[in-house]
Amino acid sequence: MSKLSLDKILQSQGFGTRKWCRELIVDGEVAVHGYVVSDYRTVFDTEGLEFTIFGVSWLYREHVYLALNKPADFECSRKPSHHPSVMTLLPEQFAWRDVQPVGRLDHDTTGLLLLSDDGAFIHAQSSPRRHIPKLYLATTHAPVTGQLVAQLLGGVKLHDEPAPLAALSCRQVGEHEIEIVLEQGKYHQVKRMLAAAGNHCTALRRTAIGGLTLDALELEEGEWCYLDDEQLALLVPESNA
Ligand code: URA
Repeated sequence: MSKLSLDKILQSQGFGTRKWCRELIVDGEVAVHGYVVSDYRTVFDTEGLEFTIFGVSWLYREHVYLALNKPADFECSRKPSHHPSVMTLLPEQFAWRDVQPVGRLDHDTTGLLLLSDDGAFIHAQSSPRRHIPKLYLATTHAPVTGQLVAQLLGGVKLHDEPAPLAALSCRQVGEHEIEIVLEQGKYHQVKRMLAAAGNHCTALRRTAIGGLTLDALELEEGEWCYLDDEQLALLVPESNA
């Protein structure tokens, strides 16, 4: 249980500086459990605390864990160079509370992207020692062949990588479509592996991380949702649970 004054609560949730949060409260823009609270020193238990700001409801969360169905033409960097950041697809207060993408997808890759402000979670999810499988659906320029599947399963040599990299599993799903499961997350890995195997990736979508699938989340492109404990548990491979 944690007790905090209302101005500190709003600041922790990313609603701006302490001064700005105090102004919102004094101006009568904040209600807790349905009642306007205009004294910013009022203390609340944060556990399960619901509040509204400008009439919009929020639940206090110590950390946030989000899934986004990333569209093409957005960059995962918070300081993007050629396209808008994925952060522009989320409510503004998530950037204020330092939410960041867990790993990166290329600007033209679509699909499942996790975001959080929990440093330990981000670190654990990004650690190669965790062996979290990531599933990609790639569209290829040349038709998919049995030889391509065999090469990706056997391992292909990438420039700058000391040892060949292999897909954990791989299967043809269409004439020009291949599903590839990787445990590592090297730079442009799927595209580079397909190129090293003599084909070319024309579109790429991440469809699952661990046991969490984009289909189950039912997010339209550009939509996001909070992840609950059950969904977070799907991200941990059974051998690490
Ligand atoms: N592999 C790639 O080539 N690009 C991505 O965005 C993710 C994996």
